[in-house]
Amino acid sequence: MPARLIRGTEIREQILEEISAEVAQIKRIYGIVPGLVTILVGKNPASISYVTMKVKTANRLGFREIQDNLPESVSQEDLLAHIQKYNQEDSIHGILVQLPLPHHIDEKKVINAIDPDKDVDGFHPINMGRLMIGGSEIKFPPCTPAGIREMIIRAGVETNGAEVVVVGRSTIVGKPIAIMMLQKERGGNATVTVVHTGTKDLASHCRRADILIVAAGVPGLVKPDWIKPGACVVDVGVNKVGEMISEKTGKKVAILKGDVDFDAAKEVAGWITPVPGGVGPMTITMLMKNTLNALKFKMGII
Ligand code: GUN
Repeated sequence: MPARLIRGTEIREQILEEISAEVAQIKRIYGIVPGLVTILVGKNPASISYVTMKVKTANRLGFREIQDNLPESVSQEDLLAHIQKYNQEDSIHGILVQLPLPHHIDEKKVINAIDPDKDVDGFHPINMGRLMIGGSEIKFPPCTPAGIREMIIRAGVETNGAEVVVVGRSTIVGKPIAIMMLQKERGGNATVTVVHTGTKDLASHCRRADILIVAAGVPGLVKPDWIKPGACVVDVGVNKVGEMISEKTGKKVAILKGDVDFDAAKEVAGWITPVPGGVGPMTITMLMKNTLNALKFKMGII
C-alpha cells in the first residue's frame, strides 16, 4: 500500500486558523496584535520569495507587519542599529533577519544582536540553549524543526520509543530536530541517531529508522532500499533542479526536488512528506506561532 501523504499545506491551514482565532481573541480583550519585522538585505531571489510569503501570512493573520528592506551594500553597523531600534520598539514582538546575509556581514553578530525575547527564528544562542534544556525552558523552537515535529504529531505517528534517524547536522534543522525528538515530552522520547557526511554507512542507519528525517541538501539521496517498510519519512530537502514555465502564471518557476527519491520511497514508507507542499509551508507557519507566543510571553498569558 502506498504511503499516506503528510501534507504541510493542509496542516498549515489548521494551525493558521488556530493562530488567527487567538489573535482575534487577544485583540478583542487587550487591544493588541503581534508585531513582526522582517529584515531583508539585498535582492537574493529565494530570500525575496521567502520574505514575501512571510509578510503575506503575517498580514493574513492580522499581525502588524513591518518590512525593512536594506540594500546589499548596507554596513554591518547600520544593520545592527536597525536591530537595536526594533529591540526597543514595544509594538514589535518578533524580529526576523532573512538569511543568508552578504559576505561582508557577520551572521553570528547579527543573530546575537537580536533580543532573545524577540528572536522568533530561535537562532540566538540563548534560545538554542533553552531548547537543549527542554520543557518549559523552551521559548522559540527553530521554525523548521518545530514544523517537522508538528507534522509528525498531527499525522498520529508514534514517537515514544521510536528509532529516529536524522540525516544532516545543520544548526537550523539537523541538530535542533535531533534534540527535540530526544526530549522526554510529547512528540519526543525517541532514540535518536544523527548521521552526516562523516558517517561510514548511511544506508544501514537509515534502514533502522521508524522515523527518518532527511535534511541533507542532496537531491534524491535517500533510495527506497534505505527505508524500513512502514516508516515515516520526512523530507526537508528543497533542491532547485531546473526551471519551467508555470501553466497558471506563464512565469518561470523553479523545479524543486527533495532529498528523498519520492516516487519510489512512497511505495515502501508508511507516511511521507512531499516536496513541495510538505515541510516547506510549515516553517512560515511556526514562525507565526512563535511571533504570537512572543506577544503572549511578554503579556504573561502563556
Ligand atoms: N533562510 C532560510 N531559512 C531561514 C529561516 O528559517 N529563517 C531565516 N531568518 N532565514 C532563513
